[in-house]
Amino acid sequence: PRVNVLVVGGAGYVGSHAARRIAAAGHDVWIYDNLSTGHREACLPERLIEGELADRKTLTKVLTDHKIEAVLHFAACCYVGESVTQPAKYYQNNVVGTLALLDALRAAEVSRLVFSSTTAVYGTPDKVPITEDTPLNPISPYGFTKRVVEHALVDYAHAYGLGSIALRYFNASGASREGNLGEDHAPETHLIPLVLQVALGQRDKITIFGDDYPTEDGTCVRDYIHVEDLAEAHLLALDAVEPGTCNAMNLGSEHGASVLQVVEACREVTGHEIPVEFGPRREGDPAELIADASRAREKLGWQPEFTDIRSIVETAWQWHLEHPDGYSS
Ligand code: UFG
Repeated sequence: PRVNVLVVGGAGYVGSHAARRIAAAGHDVWIYDNLSTGHREACLPERLIEGELADRKTLTKVLTDHKIEAVLHFAACCYVGESVTQPAKYYQNNVVGTLALLDALRAAEVSRLVFSSTTAVYGTPDKVPITEDTPLNPISPYGFTKRVVEHALVDYAHAYGLGSIALRYFNASGASREGNLGEDHAPETHLIPLVLQVALGQRDKITIFGDDYPTEDGTCVRDYIHVEDLAEAHLLALDAVEPGTCNAMNLGSEHGASVLQVVEACREVTGHEIPVEFGPRREGDPAELIADASRAREKLGWQPEFTDIRSIVETAWQWHLEHPDGYSS
C-alpha cells in the first residue's frame, strides 16, 4: 500500500538515494532538511520542506499536515574525527535533535521509524564478520550518539509503542546508476571520493593511514556497501517496520576490501596511476570491519547487488567525472 513518508535528512548522500527509491516504489515522499550539509539539487523542489531537526513544533505540524505514516531519519553529523574534537555538535544534533523528532512522532502519533545507524556503534569488534549481537562499545562520540539513540528506540518501543528499525551501515559508497545523485561532502574525508579526486587532478596523491595493520597487505579492511543497495534496504525496512517493535540490522556487502585494493580498483577504473604515500595510522581506525548481514537478508529479504569494489567505484567515478565540483558543477 501507498504510504505517506517523511524523509528527514533526505537531501544528503544516503537520504537522497533512499528518498528517490521509495518515491519510485509509489510512496508519497516528502523531504525535511535544513540543507546544512545536504543539497537542494538532490531533491525534487516541490517535495522539499526546509526545517531544523530540533524544531519539534514545525516537525509536528509537517507530520500532521501531510498525514505522515512513517519517517526515515538520516539527518546527522557523521564525521568520526570531527566528533572527537567537537563532541558538543554531535550530542546536540544527533541526540538532542533526534529526541525532538521522537517527541514530534509521539505528538503526531506516527509509530513507524527507520533510523540510520552505523558500524561505529561496535567500536573495535573482537571478531569479524560482525553480527548484531556483537557488544556495542563505540570508541568515538559519533558512534556513541548513534548508540544512545538506538537505546532510546528500545525504550520508546516498550513505553510508547514506537516501531523502529535501526540500520547499521558499513561504508556507504558509490553513486546512483542514473548518474545524477552522488557523494558530495565538504570537507571530504572518505576514501573513495578522495582517491577519485587524485584521478581528476584535484589532488597530487592519496595518503594511506597505516601499513602495519594485521591484515593481508597491512592496510585497513572495510566493507563497502553501495548507496543504492542501502536505498533498497530502506524501502524494505519501511515495509517491515511494525509499531511496538524494535530491531537493529547490519547493512554491508559481506565482502572486505583493503585500502590498497580500493586504490587499485580506482586505478583500473580511471586509468590514472594514482600515487600513494604511507602515513601514520589514523586514530580510532579498527583493522577490519566486515558485516554479517544475514539478519537483513532474512528479515527484509534484502540482497545487495553490488558485491565487488570495482563495480562500486565505477558508479562513483561516473558521478565524479560529470560533477568534478560536486552538486555545484
Ligand atoms: N583512509 C586512508 N586515507 C584517507 C582516507 C581514508 O587511508 O585519506 C582509510 C581509513 O584509514 C580507513 C579507510 O580508508 O581505513 C576508509 O576510511 P573512510 O574515512 O572512508 O571510512 P571509515 O571506515 O573511517 O568510516 C566509515 C563511515 C563512518 C562510520 C565508520 C565506522 O564513514 O560514518 O565507517 O567505522 F562511522
